[in-house]
Amino acid sequence: MFYPLERLINLSEGYRQTFKVAGRDLLLMVVDNQPLLLEDSCPHQGAPLRTATLVGTVLRCQRHGIEFQLPSGRALQPACPNLKMFALVYDSDRIGIDV
Ligand code: FES
Repeated sequence: MFYPLERLINLSEGYRQTFKVAGRDLLLMVVDNQPLLLEDSCPHQGAPLRTATLVGTVLRCQRHGIEFQLPSGRALQPACPNLKMFALVYDSDRIGIDV
């Protein structure tokens, strides 16, 4: 079932918004003109990523400084798991996820 998150017209570079869907905290971002959806929880120790810094396409968690490459979500520190990324679905003028 399609669960809408945002209207496409509201998405632009630098967009960042959190959503709670089915008990999960999600973070919708636009990075390099590409909408990305990820879990709003750092895979290192669970810090929220809504306040992470973004330099180019590298997201840096503010708690311990681990960096993740976007859009893949790959951790740039080998011992850390990658970000949990979710597929986005488009439905007319909205973007969302399948739940
Ligand atoms: S909780 Fe994100 S780097 Fe440690």
